[in-house]
Amino acid sequence: MRLIVVSNRVPSPRGGDKATAGGLAVALKDLLQERGGVWFGWSGGVAEDADSRLRTTIDGRIEYQQVDLTPIDRQEYYLGFANRVLWPAMHYRLGLTEFSRNDYAGYLRVNRKLAEALVPLLRDDDVIWVHDYHLLPFASILRELGVRNRIGYFHHIPWPPIEVFGAVPASLQLLRGMAAYDLIGVQTATDAGNLVRSLVEQTRATHARAGRLRFDGRHIQVQAFPIGIDTRAFRRFAERDTSLPLVQRTAQSLGNRKLVIGIDRLDYSKGIVERIDAFEQFLLAYPQQRDQATLLQITPPSRAEVPEYDALSRQIDQSIGRINGQHGSLDWVPIRFVKRAFSRQVLAGLCRHASVGLVTPMRDGMNLVAKEFVAAQDPANPGVLVLSRFAGAARQMSDALIVNPFDKTEVAEAIHAALAMPLDERQERHARLMADLEARDVDWWAETYLAALTRQKKQLPSAPPPPLRTVRKKLPPPRPVYSLPRPFALVAASAK
Ligand code: F6P
Repeated sequence: MRLIVVSNRVPSPRGGDKATAGGLAVALKDLLQERGGVWFGWSGGVAEDADSRLRTTIDGRIEYQQVDLTPIDRQEYYLGFANRVLWPAMHYRLGLTEFSRNDYAGYLRVNRKLAEALVPLLRDDDVIWVHDYHLLPFASILRELGVRNRIGYFHHIPWPPIEVFGAVPASLQLLRGMAAYDLIGVQTATDAGNLVRSLVEQTRATHARAGRLRFDGRHIQVQAFPIGIDTRAFRRFAERDTSLPLVQRTAQSLGNRKLVIGIDRLDYSKGIVERIDAFEQFLLAYPQQRDQATLLQITPPSRAEVPEYDALSRQIDQSIGRINGQHGSLDWVPIRFVKRAFSRQVLAGLCRHASVGLVTPMRDGMNLVAKEFVAAQDPANPGVLVLSRFAGAARQMSDALIVNPFDKTEVAEAIHAALAMPLDERQERHARLMADLEARDVDWWAETYLAALTRQKKQLPSAPPPPLRTVRKKLPPPRPVYSLPRPFALVAASAK
């Protein structure tokens, strides 16, 4: 069996470590290096005359197959529909969505373009594993092109309840298209429940045996497979890499002050502004801690052309400037902020030096930084993880200090508790967290998922896949928003 991994972004084979920033790319690279296979998707490159020609590179056990996109493809598919509609909606932020029919048409067009480029590469025994929200309709287009292989999908970000996802104008079509997958993996049981309810309530899916759904004559399974990290490798990096010159210089520059660390892609889902406010609250509530701890926030920029990300970047700059100006002194800056990517080795070394890891997203599929922070700790003197209850990781990591990131006082108290936690309690919590990270690492995740996918029987679609065009449906005449009994209506009117 050959594994074909499909993801929106396929990092450059020789791009080094920083090129694979983002949990998904890191996990997939670990997986493919281990088992070998093809990694297919967008190169990240843009060219006016881009066609669907594949660029093939073999690196170790990985065969990279990359395509470029045109500027309009990138605009509509990636920046537009994927990152201004699906991303905010999946993170429960409907107020930030910006739907346009052109972007949605571009999203479908690029999914088709990628599917058509993949088909000539396929062999009968290939298992296709598609990743993330950029590619929701990918399998339905492959089926339309005659592909009968097993196709799995893994959703790395949250799946919200239908009351939220249903507000996306294309939601019904997208849900219908997902019936073409054989196995849909999500991060948590909550995500699985939300997706199953969406499929049952919005499409003709019905419950079948063994927890599966029956839909358009096919069976699909929706199940939680919490993603892990390469725990051993990350622990090894951390053991070795405290000696890296950059890590050493950073540690020395802190003097005796404790290090509190936050590492996140620049994204509103990560709660960076809220975390910075909580750190200020900590300084205000515990004045004896001033000058005793420094927050180092490392934030590689991302999706800079999306207006919401640009606004967020400016908001973070302003908050940090204000807090440092107000609370800092000549020889101490409360928050150090670096808007750049660093290698995993450097990040592992920095995490090992930190007394507290702050992972406080407002909503997150899993959050692998939480896991990497724990894996990087010295078991003899471990730091403490402060973790948002809205990260998927909180389901597995109950030995972290679990907080509500919307409550800055609670986060401030947790920072204080983490800094003051006695050594034996830190060791016990760390040992329990680590045992789970070792048992459920990235290999466990991939093996469990792929075993479940290969257990699915090859199926022929009994009905043709639904059309994925934007169709203007004839709507029934609008019903009145409410109708009140007549006397009440009169009272309400005269009360004006
Ligand atoms: O995990 C979510 C995700 O969108 C991945 O699909 C992606 O690799 C990562 O975040 C980084 O995002 P982007 O590719 O948009 O920079």
